[in-house]
Amino acid sequence: MTHSNTDLDMLAPPAFHDRERFGHFDDSTREYVVETPYTPYPWINYLGNNDFRSLISHTGGGYQFYRDAKLRRLTRYRYNSVPRDQNGRLLYLRDDTQLWSPTWQPCQTPLDHFECRHGLGYTRFHARYADIDSNLLCFVPRDAACEIQQLTLTNGGPRRRHLQLFAGLEWCLWNAHDDANNFQRNFSTGEVLVDGGSICHLTEYRERRNHFAFFSVNSDPVGFDTDRDSFLGPYGSYQKPRAVQQGACRQTNAFGWAPAAVFQLAMTLEPGESRELVFLTGYVENEPERKWTPSGTVNLERMHQMQTRFADSNAVATAFAAVQHHWEGYLDHCTVQTEEPRLDRLANIWAPYQCAVTHQLSRSASLFESGVSRGMGFRDSNQDLLGIVGTQPDQARQRILDLAAVQFRDGGAYHQYQPLTKQGNADIGGGFNDDPLWLILSTGAYLKETGDSGILHEAVPFADESPGLGTTLFDHLRASFQHVVDNLGPHGLPLIGRADWNDCLNLNCFSSNPDEAFQTTDIREQGVAESLMIAGLFLFVAPDYQHMCRLVDRDDLAAAAGAHRNAITAAVDKHGWDGRWFLRAYRHDGGKVGSSENREGQIFIESQAWCVMAGVGHKDGRAERALDSVRALLTCEHGVVLVYPAYTQYDPALGEISSYPPGYKENGAVFCHTNPWIVIAETMLGRGEHAFQTFCKTAPTWRESQAKRHKTEPYVYAQMIAGKEAAVPGEAKNSWLTGTAAWSYHALTHYILGVRPDYDGLRIDPCIPPSWPGFEVTRRFRGTEYHIKVHNPNHVTKGVARMTVNGTELDGNLLPPGGVGDSVQVVVTMGHVG
Ligand code: BGC
Ligand code: NOJ
Repeated sequence: MTHSNTDLDMLAPPAFHDRERFGHFDDSTREYVVETPYTPYPWINYLGNNDFRSLISHTGGGYQFYRDAKLRRLTRYRYNSVPRDQNGRLLYLRDDTQLWSPTWQPCQTPLDHFECRHGLGYTRFHARYADIDSNLLCFVPRDAACEIQQLTLTNGGPRRRHLQLFAGLEWCLWNAHDDANNFQRNFSTGEVLVDGGSICHLTEYRERRNHFAFFSVNSDPVGFDTDRDSFLGPYGSYQKPRAVQQGACRQTNAFGWAPAAVFQLAMTLEPGESRELVFLTGYVENEPERKWTPSGTVNLERMHQMQTRFADSNAVATAFAAVQHHWEGYLDHCTVQTEEPRLDRLANIWAPYQCAVTHQLSRSASLFESGVSRGMGFRDSNQDLLGIVGTQPDQARQRILDLAAVQFRDGGAYHQYQPLTKQGNADIGGGFNDDPLWLILSTGAYLKETGDSGILHEAVPFADESPGLGTTLFDHLRASFQHVVDNLGPHGLPLIGRADWNDCLNLNCFSSNPDEAFQTTDIREQGVAESLMIAGLFLFVAPDYQHMCRLVDRDDLAAAAGAHRNAITAAVDKHGWDGRWFLRAYRHDGGKVGSSENREGQIFIESQAWCVMAGVGHKDGRAERALDSVRALLTCEHGVVLVYPAYTQYDPALGEISSYPPGYKENGAVFCHTNPWIVIAETMLGRGEHAFQTFCKTAPTWRESQAKRHKTEPYVYAQMIAGKEAAVPGEAKNSWLTGTAAWSYHALTHYILGVRPDYDGLRIDPCIPPSWPGFEVTRRFRGTEYHIKVHNPNHVTKGVARMTVNGTELDGNLLPPGGVGDSVQVVVTMGHVG
């Protein structure tokens, strides 16, 4: 008998067993309310400002870091731990007979009431147990390097209560990779300092670190422990630490081994009485000359300043209000009103929120990314910019320049860079031939949104040249474009290199050694494999590149680019069509990938999407045929799978894609990132019903109704959902950090709702299901707020018949930027044009 994952049900408490969903959306507070600790997977949120960041699960798990999840990890998390989701914020309450955690973990005592509300930049917990109500608010202030945990305890019972509270965390020794590996050193270096209500983590401060971390409480503790194992006791666990069971910390000082920070607090609560405590987990940096006081002690001044600032609840409330204000302002950029609440809450809250997180963290730190391997991905971060160019143009500008700075003179780029140092990652290097083009895509999106063509003249050095040579961002874009032109293969199509967007289609790297990475093994056979996906992407961004050439007065380069476009279009026409869809690639030996001639892997999503998005085959019906094939062969209940039929055997000439079981990851899962590309392609063909159907399949606010099957957070996109050929279709994995957020938000707002910035204005070009009567969008664009009402009286799917601006009829569907006041009323009537 085979066992499926649903066997979990048998052993789980009824709170898990009986449900399809484990919470609900509260749109009025912009929260997802998790109603039980027993979710199918820990459901997390991100707290943070640009520097200080936390992951927090619905039971208080997770960790904090400063800027870089690998190099500046503050607290220790045990990935893949048993029990799941250890460690996090340690909170224990006890009286003479009972012991519980206000976040359920780590005690796991079944609570009388449990609720976790994940909001924008904060998470709240409400629990009740043994007549004690606990409210915990966790957030990171906009302008301080700390996480605040504000805990309020209320005695809701008829008796006076004497409570002991233990609160703490376990330190990570900064470099999260070394912390999990180099025990021969780690067990000797740990250092702490106890300073009243503060425990400072000082490991390596004596030598090369100019930073330390601290945990503090705004009240006098009755005890503390900083040596983890003394707190837990021999072979003890966080579920039942010895100190908590015995009701007494031991005032230990950690010397090496595993430093922690735990405070013991005692309180008496009369019936109805409340007590509030503020805990800080903070980070302090001192310049080298300020590290020590004149008397040779650690300079704690900045820590004391932070503690003084947040010592009382008014200050905490002010800081919290600033967080809420920040997110309200962020979301105000664009709001949508349709007849579909699932769409509105996705467009107005969760998708833009996820876009902010993916922009900040790229693929570095989640419950599926351990924070130690990948930093910022070149292609990932460029695409993530699509999600935030409107809301955070300044950050987008800086990110574009940072990304360009890890590009090489020949247009190739480091595939990843470390957020703290902004240096390219030499271990993985470059050679992913799609990478350069994403810089054109992101810069184009930024220019269309902001009109800031000055960015093209910003000085940015190439990573392999000395700085000061005067190269500009435009030189980088030119190198990007040229990189494709300089790397064409036997069919005149772009060479794929190590891989294109699909990291796992490794057509030039033949690995038979399980001890090496698929992508970085030597490229053999001259690396002549070619990619139709890069061809489509090239043709898609080429008009943007030509526009940028003209913006810097290089019409000659724009004209030359036109010739290259024609040549690649001709190559796609001649060698890229398989009869019913676009081929995916040519192998190193000239064999086809993604062809009806293949036994497996006959059709891939990427080349259908990108060739159609680029305009290939729009006039002769190939575009429709390709998307019809996508619907017939790739689309399933859970979305559009990446490839069909999935590969059943490992083939070194295909690489990592064939290493995954059928239906998982790149081998035939719904790889969600690609689905909005199909949505966009469908809108380009005017197929609004198809576009919207495809959009809904992966959208978290739709999938929430089957949260149990879906498993990961029902309020954010996941990277993949197991596909139709998988053993357990419909299970999602790798939630949060995925380009799906940016692309889906982009597809929804720019192509379905069709409110789309262009170089010369804001274009209104909806493509919706014909049943929709209309919708409204309010959006800022270059300093003006546009209130756009779209009517669809004749139930068409596409086409703007009429448009008025503040009552005056406008020709065409492009709103010119500025000059018409701060707030503009736009009325759009869809219908047949002309
Ligand atoms: C995954 C890809 C990912 C790559 C990153 C592969 O194992 O399947 O999705 O892009 O690793 O290195
Ligand atoms: C995830 C990676 O972060 C991204 O760069 C890649 O394009 C996709 N996987 C597909 O392989």
